[in-house]
Amino acid sequence: MEHRKVKYGRTWWKRQRKKNQTPSRPKSCDNDQDMIVLRQWMHKDGYTGCSLKPAVFPDTGRGLMTTRNISPGNILISIPEALLITTDTVLDSDLGQMIANSKMKLKPIQVLVLFLVVERYKGSASQWQHYVDVLPKEYTTPLYFNHDEINSLNDPIKHQATELIDNVAELFKSTQYSIKHLDYKIGTVSLDDILTYDIFKWAWCAVNTRSVYIDHINSDWLDTTTEKNHFALAPYLDLINHTNSAKVEAGFNFENRCYDIKTLDTYKKYDQVFICYNQHSNVKLFLEYGFILPDNDCSIVSVTPSDIYTICKKLSHLGNIKEKLKFLNQKELLVNLEVSLNGASWNLKTCVLILSANTEKNEYSFMKCVYDSSDSCYTTCKMLMKTLLENKIESAGNHDSCRKGFESSEAPLPYKAVIIDTLNGERERILRSNIKMLLTNKEYFLRD
Ligand SMILES: C[S@@+](CC[C@H](N)C(=O)[O-])C[C@H]1O[C@@H](n2cnc3c(N)ncnc32)[C@H](O)[C@@H]1O
Repeated sequence: MEHRKVKYGRTWWKRQRKKNQTPSRPKSCDNDQDMIVLRQWMHKDGYTGCSLKPAVFPDTGRGLMTTRNISPGNILISIPEALLITTDTVLDSDLGQMIANSKMKLKPIQVLVLFLVVERYKGSASQWQHYVDVLPKEYTTPLYFNHDEINSLNDPIKHQATELIDNVAELFKSTQYSIKHLDYKIGTVSLDDILTYDIFKWAWCAVNTRSVYIDHINSDWLDTTTEKNHFALAPYLDLINHTNSAKVEAGFNFENRCYDIKTLDTYKKYDQVFICYNQHSNVKLFLEYGFILPDNDCSIVSVTPSDIYTICKKLSHLGNIKEKLKFLNQKELLVNLEVSLNGASWNLKTCVLILSANTEKNEYSFMKCVYDSSDSCYTTCKMLMKTLLENKIESAGNHDSCRKGFESSEAPLPYKAVIIDTLNGERERILRSNIKMLLTNKEYFLRD
């Protein structure tokens, strides 16, 4: 099988950035008319401002930039309750009242999606117009991928993306069915007439990619059997992008009745501020939010017990294999076996250490390896781990790069293609980076 060398390290990303001709420095959009109007409107509802302004950043797109140095413990942003869109906001509207009176019990996300659809349709007649105006017009979640783009994803990502698309299509159908009975009109136009799949998916992505988490107590009128009522859209605050490393304390503050975000990080003036949506792998970030991180240390490659058995068969000279495997199984060490850009998991390292150890054929000796790796033969460990990683690369085969045809071109690689390429190549990149670490870092098998 032919192997193409995977080349999307930092240099590739830098080259892409250059090709895409995004400025290497952030470009402020603080003075864009829609942002000015948004803030003016928010001030009327009690928003007191913050030391953050919108800008377009080379790596992450639109986000928020500091206008001064920020220290750990500082409040980044505070959004008054009146400016949050929650299911309570919907219940206060004529749409919400009709839904509640109909006793049809929609899911929280359906209710919020319908609210956004209605407010967008109302245009300048909507109280929320200035917020709706700054929402992205489209997204890069799987819902915005066409058939060919979905097909160019490797499994199991393709399968997960297809499942998501099917679920949202299903939710659309059931929402469409429900609102037929509602007979809700905006002026003379019925909601049924404006609710197309395109507008539904736009609103669904807005709620799913931008909501913060709030606990609601009263939700008798909603169907919360499969999904909690926790969504809240928070204007301006929802311009903050994600990193895995951001540390914040965030939540609804019952004293000032605002949704507050306090950072625990340090920022210099003009830095981009971040929050952490959660410790997500790139697959999860793509499915939920439509983006990926170039070096995501939350992405993992799983190693199965069957991968371990295959290696043991291949390396038949390893001693006492049957007993060692039995021991690993009994001690439940053949679970959570994985590698990431940070190296191998504790269980995987322990398995490799035990399988490589030149020990007596008894539980005590195996147990000793779990806590003390000094007796293990480093060369055997290295060889076993390298074979395991190489086997996984081989078994996955070659991935078709969607960069084909773009490589020599000066045209920028569209972000969707970057997503496909990164996701398809990530598994191999993680495995190869582990081989490199293994060969160059003597401490690869150290366990905390
Ligand atoms: C809460 S919004 C953040 C603001 C958003 N960038 C905007 O322009 O409105 C979440 C979306 O921002 C984008 N995003 C967040 N963090 C990102 C990152 N680290 N890199 C690239 N895009 C990111 C994704 O499109 C995601 O769905």
